[in-house]
Amino acid sequence: MGPGDLEKILSRLPRDDVPELISSVESGEDAGVYLLDEDTALVQTLDFFPPIVDDPYTFGQIAAANALSDIYAMGARPLTALNLVAFPCSLGLDVLASILAGGHDKVRESGAVMVGGHTIEDKEPKYGLSVTGLVNPSEMTTIGGARPGDVLVLTKPVGTGILSTALKAEFIGEGDMAAAVESMRALNDEAALLFSRHGVSACTDVTGFGLGGHLFEMVRAARVSAELRAGEVPLFDGTLEMGRMGMMPSGLYRNKEYVGGAVRDDGSCDRTLFDCMFDPQTSGGLLGTVGEEDAGPLLDALRNGPCPTASVIGRVTEGEARISVYGERSC
Ligand code: CO
Ligand code: CO
Repeated sequence: MGPGDLEKILSRLPRDDVPELISSVESGEDAGVYLLDEDTALVQTLDFFPPIVDDPYTFGQIAAANALSDIYAMGARPLTALNLVAFPCSLGLDVLASILAGGHDKVRESGAVMVGGHTIEDKEPKYGLSVTGLVNPSEMTTIGGARPGDVLVLTKPVGTGILSTALKAEFIGEGDMAAAVESMRALNDEAALLFSRHGVSACTDVTGFGLGGHLFEMVRAARVSAELRAGEVPLFDGTLEMGRMGMMPSGLYRNKEYVGGAVRDDGSCDRTLFDCMFDPQTSGGLLGTVGEEDAGPLLDALRNGPCPTASVIGRVTEGEARISVYGERSC
């Protein structure tokens, strides 16, 4: 379902305005945050989807890393996780066991504890987690704090949607997905820690709405605008080539439609590269805004540590929720 349709449906539901609810997914946040006491808040999120790779263990790892990501985007620490499983028994229980083992190992790596789950029979397998975390509200990173003059930092390359589409169509093989798979199963935990340590003003994770869609939510929440340097956005090898061959997931078009008139480009950007900015990501990187003076040290720490391809991809400007895309590198 496209982000625009979802917003329409959600806006029809009554809002629960309780003072303890200090952040909700309705406001564009990555997770719901519920205040327990002055310095403790509960952070809750869930995510699940059908397989995007053939290997069940790898799929389990990716789905778990993806679900945990919204906890990290808020600067929180994951505490407990529950499995969400839809599975056709005809696939065999060994396959299910491998998916769950992948998820379980990822949850352990995060330091959280798996506390249970629920399984239903379904024609197509789906897997993910519901995750509960904790955060000190004064240390929470939110989507709405971007300030004009801040620079945009992205921690992982883009292109998992286009590459998964190409894999399904057998235009590429599993081997061509290796770097993307490695990236998708990597936790955003260390990147989130570095973001906090270097005082990011806003943070979100790049997932289904694509880089452009999540950046749009970020500038809208802060009532600012942004310049996006598409040529500086790291892409997985093969993304542009597969995009040029039309291997675009339908979600990409929905994401473009969602951002609609809020995005403009000056004609300097290659069309396919522009489209890549809207490629829906699975377990993508963190997108943060940080003061110019902190950007260099943050980038060094990310590149020498958990995110070798972390990049500055643009800046925050004055204005009302607009994104200007510039091409440069590949044009
Ligand atoms: Co998110
Ligand atoms: Co999510």
